[in-house]
Amino acid sequence: MTTQHSINGSRLLRQLNTLADIGRTDTNACCRLALTDEDKQGRDLIVRWMKELGMEISIDPIGNIFGVRAGSRPELAPVMTGSHIDTVRTGGAYDGNYGVLGGLEVVATLNDAQHTTERSLVVGVFTNEEGARFAPDMLGSLVYVGGMTIEDALNVKAIDGAVLGDELKRIGYYGNSALGIHKPHAFVELHIEQGPLLDIEGIKIGAVENLQGISWQELTIVGQSNHAGTTPMYLRHDAGYAASAISHFVRELTRSMGGNQVGTVGHVVLTPNLINVIAARATITVDLRNTDEALLQQAERALNDFLKSLAESEGVTITSRQLARFEPVTFDAALADRIAYHAGNMNLSHRRMTSGAGHDAQMLARICPTAMIFVPSVGGISHNPAEHTDPADLIAGANVLLATLTELAH
Ligand code: GLV
Ligand code: MN
Ligand code: MN
Repeated sequence: MTTQHSINGSRLLRQLNTLADIGRTDTNACCRLALTDEDKQGRDLIVRWMKELGMEISIDPIGNIFGVRAGSRPELAPVMTGSHIDTVRTGGAYDGNYGVLGGLEVVATLNDAQHTTERSLVVGVFTNEEGARFAPDMLGSLVYVGGMTIEDALNVKAIDGAVLGDELKRIGYYGNSALGIHKPHAFVELHIEQGPLLDIEGIKIGAVENLQGISWQELTIVGQSNHAGTTPMYLRHDAGYAASAISHFVRELTRSMGGNQVGTVGHVVLTPNLINVIAARATITVDLRNTDEALLQQAERALNDFLKSLAESEGVTITSRQLARFEPVTFDAALADRIAYHAGNMNLSHRRMTSGAGHDAQMLARICPTAMIFVPSVGGISHNPAEHTDPADLIAGANVLLATLTELAH
């Protein structure tokens, strides 16, 4: 049975704005890094809204929050949706938040219509999806599906030195429900595209069928600091130069490989970071992604070879620490078909697509049929306060979520 209901668009938009006010900066960014006071405030608000919807709430020991709307047949596995509400430091209003609030809006709509589904509906809010404060990204959903032990996860150190488990306890979200409860019948995540394709092509809905592999490493380069004026060029062991050479190499590598290979050096810290001192030390990060695992490995090998030759030629040491490594994921094709079907049924243009960003759905795909619904991001801008999606597109995506979840739950 498919639903004839429509979501309440103004309620969804209002809630998105209310949540975006928590952690709003003077540059209009949304800054709710995982397990900070702002994340706690956002979580408290979501829990309050879940309670107002009559949902039963559970919180597991990695801080994932689950709200359950009971179905008429509790013996059946539930249908799950959800996403995350942590943001990068320069986040927008929609990344993650849209998937969580879209899920709550589906529940509110079904409540309004007094529509009881057979399967229960679960809205999940996963801890530390962004990975901007604690690595790896998608940590909460990774632990949820058994891909990382809770002990290892609780010991992860933040970029500011805090320990994940301490922060979880400090904000009151070290829960006691069993890890991996609510094993889903299926998982569907609603998200903004965060890339330019739907916007460029003027298409309203993406039925996401796969997601690229992610390789993150932190490189520490140790050279020798010395006087910028007196040290002849041939005697330098310059960690700052090595950092920029790596950044240049990553760009050249993506150019020579072409295809879907992308690469980013997004974090560079030089020590002592002074105008007239050769840098003794550099810490940088490299983010490599590809939809093809073999090509991603090829990129990793090429980088590794370059690091060896650079260390030798510049007389520095370079050590690497892996922060995240996830293979590409293929989502459930039949579920992506249903998303496309419901979009078509609502006269919304749609296409199959790949996700360039990481998502909690890529972890859930390990345990149940999973797919994602994308809506356009204006100009393809994300991880930026200017992130924007037209209200009508936000509402359309939530209606596709409503139809897909309702069908799955019967
Ligand atoms: C998460 O947003 C990522 O893809 O980096
Ligand atoms: Mn996200
Ligand atoms: Mn993000």
